[in-house]
Amino acid sequence: MPPLLGSTLGNTGVSQGLSLVMKVVINLGWGVGLAMLRSTQDNRRQCFQAMAADNDLFLEAQASWDLDRLYADLAIAKQQTAPHKQPSLTSMEQELLRGLLCRYSPAEIAAQRFTAPKTVEVNLSNTLYRYVETLTGRDHNVLESWRDVADWLAAAGYTSTWRKINWSQLPDVPVFYGRQQELATLQAWAAQSCRLVMVLGPGGIGKTSLVVKLVRHIQSQFDCLIWQSLRPGPPLEAVLQSWLAQLPDLAIDPTADHHRQLASVIDYLHSHRCLVVLDNFDTLLQEGDFAGHYREGYGAYGDFLRQLGEAQHQSCVLITSRESTKEIVMLEGPNRPVRSLDLPGLGEAAQGILQEANLSGEQHWQQLIRIYRGNPLVLKIVASNVRDLFNGSVSDFLKQRITLITSDVSFLIEQQFERLSMAEKELLYALAKLQTPANVDRLQQELTPHILQPLGSLVRRSLVERSAAGFTLRPVVMEYVCDRISREAPS
Ligand SMILES: Nc1ncnc2c1ncn2[C@@H]1O[C@H](COP(=O)(O)OP(=O)(O)OP(=O)(O)O)[C@@H](O)[C@H]1O
Ligand SMILES: [Mg+2]
Repeated sequence: MPPLLGSTLGNTGVSQGLSLVMKVVINLGWGVGLAMLRSTQDNRRQCFQAMAADNDLFLEAQASWDLDRLYADLAIAKQQTAPHKQPSLTSMEQELLRGLLCRYSPAEIAAQRFTAPKTVEVNLSNTLYRYVETLTGRDHNVLESWRDVADWLAAAGYTSTWRKINWSQLPDVPVFYGRQQELATLQAWAAQSCRLVMVLGPGGIGKTSLVVKLVRHIQSQFDCLIWQSLRPGPPLEAVLQSWLAQLPDLAIDPTADHHRQLASVIDYLHSHRCLVVLDNFDTLLQEGDFAGHYREGYGAYGDFLRQLGEAQHQSCVLITSRESTKEIVMLEGPNRPVRSLDLPGLGEAAQGILQEANLSGEQHWQQLIRIYRGNPLVLKIVASNVRDLFNGSVSDFLKQRITLITSDVSFLIEQQFERLSMAEKELLYALAKLQTPANVDRLQQELTPHILQPLGSLVRRSLVERSAAGFTLRPVVMEYVCDRISREAPS
């Protein structure tokens, strides 16, 4: 049996195919268009049925409507209007709603659903039209045109103002132990309108993971979400330019000079409630400089931070960094809108990491956690050592006087590095040279097709991390390998 269109193209392909037919319908007129639709109908009926069951038509409505809120509020209106029916919106009702919000007429929706226009019209009259009247406080049966649905709901404030910049780059944090107190503190600060919050701590302590968890909790309180990794050190101008190009309603030329860019971004943060994350701020700072001075060429970030902390705005800017900066030190305070949180080790919750690695000698786990100060990355690396070299026995590991009684991550990485296979070392070097995350296809094309085994092994050893954007070295590992590369380069 030939594969169904739906199974070969996937839903996007199906939707594109159908929207092509819809264009013919609209461009050539209903007669020709519907004849075409009918001729393709039999071939596609099955594929449509699968698609309709997936409830994935008109999903483009998500871009401009707050669908979750609408589904919830319309469900309440439905209970008032038709208490005998299922209390939530059915998938068909949700789909019809999205169609109307995309400004499709009932006949156009029917064509895309391969049903008779009358069926859709009757359905709408018995359901959504009535719920929308209730939700918007109107009398029953006053709705005259299908267009009223989108118009009334827009007037009632259901259009979405959500903007997301780089939000797909948020690292994945599949396993997360403890940190309830820190999460509660940060959540409270965001709710108290703190405009600048810095999360501080050494490499691998869990700053990025904590902030990812936090923003997943609070993101719905904001109209605009921006995730900005500052590794490997983009100039401020390039960062602001990319934001400005993606923010709507801005009358500024994104290539305007840096002062105008800065003023426009601050204005935007003032007039919209944005959640902005600047991850890895320490990349911009001079290494080992206690006062948190900027590397040459990055001083503009200091100005940016000062303005973010001083200017009145309704947004919340979260920063992760291994060290503080002089702007934060000067502006922060327990009763001020600028705060910083020093992230301690994980404490007892770190046991989860040792458990995951299947280590034995539970009575010694606390000791191991204390030695490595509850640093989750260090504990992950140590746990993999214990597993590989000591057959998982923590007590055997601790008996070795050569045991690394240190929490110096780069020293640990060095130990780990020496034991890697040649293929793993080569892959680490190649990933360090790439600097940015790359997916398997790209790595296979640019490096060698035989990367799967060393890549898997490096992920298991916690040296490489995986995010939606692809595979890359963990920050501390990146620094260690870059440092090796520069030491090995012929002078
Ligand atoms: N609460 C936690 N529970 C379990 N694993 C954690 C936790 N916090 C962090 N980790 C793990 O520890 C590793 C390092 O975490 P993360 O990248 O968040 O550290 P970081 O402080 O941002 O480091 P860097 O300064 O290098 O950016 C990751 O593998 C992460 O999954
Ligand atoms: Mg980090």
